[in-house]
Amino acid sequence: MITRRECLGSTAAIAATAALVPLGILPRPVDAQEARGTPILRSIPASGEALPVIGLGTNNYSPTSFEERITRRVVLERLPQLGGKVVDTAPAYRDSEVTLGAMMAELGNRERLFLATKVTAPGGSVDAGRAMIEESFRRLQTARIDLLQVHNLDGVDVLMPELQSLKRVGRVRYIGVTTSRAEQYPALLAAMRRHPLDFVQVDYSLANRGAAAQVLPLARQRRQAVLVNLPFGGRRDANLFARVRERALPDWAAQFGADSWAQFFLKYVIGHPAVTAVIPGMTRLVNLQDNIGAGFGALPDEAQRRRMEEHWDREVAPA
Ligand SMILES: NC(=O)c1ccc[n+]([C@@H]2O[C@H](COP(=O)([O-])OP(=O)(O)OC[C@H]3O[C@@H](n4cnc5c(N)ncnc54)[C@H](OP(=O)(O)O)[C@@H]3O)[C@@H](O)[C@H]2O)c1
Repeated sequence: MITRRECLGSTAAIAATAALVPLGILPRPVDAQEARGTPILRSIPASGEALPVIGLGTNNYSPTSFEERITRRVVLERLPQLGGKVVDTAPAYRDSEVTLGAMMAELGNRERLFLATKVTAPGGSVDAGRAMIEESFRRLQTARIDLLQVHNLDGVDVLMPELQSLKRVGRVRYIGVTTSRAEQYPALLAAMRRHPLDFVQVDYSLANRGAAAQVLPLARQRRQAVLVNLPFGGRRDANLFARVRERALPDWAAQFGADSWAQFFLKYVIGHPAVTAVIPGMTRLVNLQDNIGAGFGALPDEAQRRRMEEHWDREVAPA
């Protein structure tokens, strides 16, 4: 168990993380990102509110040791300092909401984050969904959720009046739906046409471009913001990084400022004009520092994005 005292205070936390540097869990503190300039912002169509394009996915925020907790806390602390804002969680992600709620209270940075969580209607029950929402407020230790999404479209029709009502009274600022599976795209497209959604969340990456066919164009047409999940193909061993482990980054990646494969993958995603923000899963500062760099400087244009796809299809995917 970690005592409250152990977890309080940024200085103590940073000092503790120093012990992890030799283990390769963390790099030495690097704050070069603060000198990069202004992060790339995209507007939420429904309101015009601007969001930085790089956010954080937290489906792996249920730490089981002091080291695991502290590395995640450092990511949550540094995210807004380095220019990120969106944090995506869900009741389904085990202790993620509880972890985030406690850490935001310790760090005092709730107001610097755009907090997105999710809800379902188990067995089609709106009451069960309502209870889940109240539990999210409690676990996240917040009076306002920035974005409430119907997770995997589970109960979207029955929950939508409840979500709209929470938005009307100001407890929730935006409403949306999520999926991460192509089989759900027909249902997603139907929900996007049927409901007044502010946001949709969908899987999209250089290796998984199905959302570009209909979902992303419809989001633009309906003026719905888009969060992208699984930009690296998920946490499994077969993610995109495993495919490029032995490969050098193409030298032309420098044309749009990608310094690493992670930035290559993320700049591809946020180079799509329908995308508002991407939420890579990150539990380590070294990865945050890498990924946040994709949200600064140039983005690939249409021709460069085609070149990235061709490179992936011809050089990487067949190997
Ligand atoms: N249906 C839904 O609503 C749905 C479904 C799936 C996901 N999501 C959301 O989307 C988020 C993202 O998905 P995901 O986390 O499963 O997959 P992901 O973002 O595609 O990949 C995350 C994995 O990439 C690693 N990584 C991150 N940055 C890296 C870098 N620069 N270099 C090397 N490795 C790097 C992470 O490692 P470390 O952890 O070690 O940093 C983690 O293992 C989730 O956390 C969740 O919030 C929503």
